[in-house]
Amino acid sequence: MSGFKFPANFLWGAAASAHQVEGGNLNDWSEWEIINAARLAREADSKFSYLKNWSEIQAQAENPENYISGKTCDHYSRFRKDFDIAKQLGHNAHRFSIEWSRIEPEEGKFNEQEIEHYREVIKALRERGMEPFVTLWHWTLPLWVRDQGGWENPKTIRDFLRYTNKIIDVLGSNIHFWIPLNEPTIYVGHSYIIGDFPPQLRSYRRGNNVLKNLIQAHHGAYRLIHEQLGREVMVGNAHNLHYNVPYRQWWPPDMLATAVFRYIRDLRPLRWTRRMEDFIGLNYYFRDTVKFIFGAGRFPCIDIQNPNEWLSDMGWDLYPEGIYHSLKYLARYRKPIYIIENGLADQRDIHRTKFIGEHLKWIGRAIREGTDVRGYLHWSLLDNFEWDKGFWPRFGLVEVDYKTLERKIRPSAWEFKKIIESNAIEVPNSIVADPIEVKPR
Ligand code: BGC
Repeated sequence: MSGFKFPANFLWGAAASAHQVEGGNLNDWSEWEIINAARLAREADSKFSYLKNWSEIQAQAENPENYISGKTCDHYSRFRKDFDIAKQLGHNAHRFSIEWSRIEPEEGKFNEQEIEHYREVIKALRERGMEPFVTLWHWTLPLWVRDQGGWENPKTIRDFLRYTNKIIDVLGSNIHFWIPLNEPTIYVGHSYIIGDFPPQLRSYRRGNNVLKNLIQAHHGAYRLIHEQLGREVMVGNAHNLHYNVPYRQWWPPDMLATAVFRYIRDLRPLRWTRRMEDFIGLNYYFRDTVKFIFGAGRFPCIDIQNPNEWLSDMGWDLYPEGIYHSLKYLARYRKPIYIIENGLADQRDIHRTKFIGEHLKWIGRAIREGTDVRGYLHWSLLDNFEWDKGFWPRFGLVEVDYKTLERKIRPSAWEFKKIIESNAIEVPNSIVADPIEVKPR
């Protein structure tokens, strides 16, 4: 064993998004949930009964109420208490998102009370010594934006920039870290290609158009933020990078499918935004083992296999070494990197301590080898509303009882605190010394 010390001023904390924790939102998702809850409950058995923990989640997953965000954790009114908990857990940074539909519920009409709310959120973080990372759009749309065609309509780019401008005006002086958009490719994948998120389309062409509009929105926001606030502030995108490996390591169709999948889903947006990013925001969750499948009528022609035994409650292939490969890949851009999401659904909190520790060891190794990583934000502080899966996946360092809204700190959160306080981690020699062939995957 040898110890690894993280750099001084390393930022530690957790991340969340408005719709998943606030409660009481009125946007494209809240309406979609009401229309789709019964269907999602009916489909639960065919989608999730293969999971090892199915018996534990079945009742919840088959209940339509699970799919309606409603008041979720009521973080909207409890944010100060939640930030007290984060502070108690040693966090010195926190990522949250501003809900566009609250700020601009009608086109061009800004709600001053809601602006005040987010002013208070930022103030509450600063009073507790936590650096805010502010996302301007985390997947939900005001209803009027949905009705004009969402991100398919180029007008939405201009509207988003007007909203961005407003936020710069009213809150800008207190925000240093800006994330205009959360994971454009994951949004496009779910909403326009796989079709399981609103507006549930399945068209590569339309998805590609949406992705281009999102990238333009990012570029516009980057320019605006710097024009108005100068070069001091930092703007970054939230990139979700998976660790992709071919199912049959040397079988050309699997190798090709892996490379294409990785390029389209992970690398292309990075290339498009890299000149307009002061830092890179990395979201890393799992490994995907990609298998090419022959067969008509299926798009994309791939299947994801999970050879690993170490799985999250959602069946994700937990593979900490993957974060090291993602960081080594990103190092080529020579920009500071903040990990702004990394986490797992783990209701019984039996994997989280190991999950965090193992990822931090690999992050430590990447830093030791010269990668400029400056922060780690775990997903998430609280259990929250996991989009089309609803409430059964439990991502929180802090458990939420959705009936009483009581918060209960999980043991892993205390273990994470120990790492934060020492700003260091014990690393086994195998991770420090084993030679690793780093390939651009
Ligand atoms: C998203 C979060 C989501 C998390 C876990 C991320 O890609 O940004 O909103 O909850 O994954 O699925």
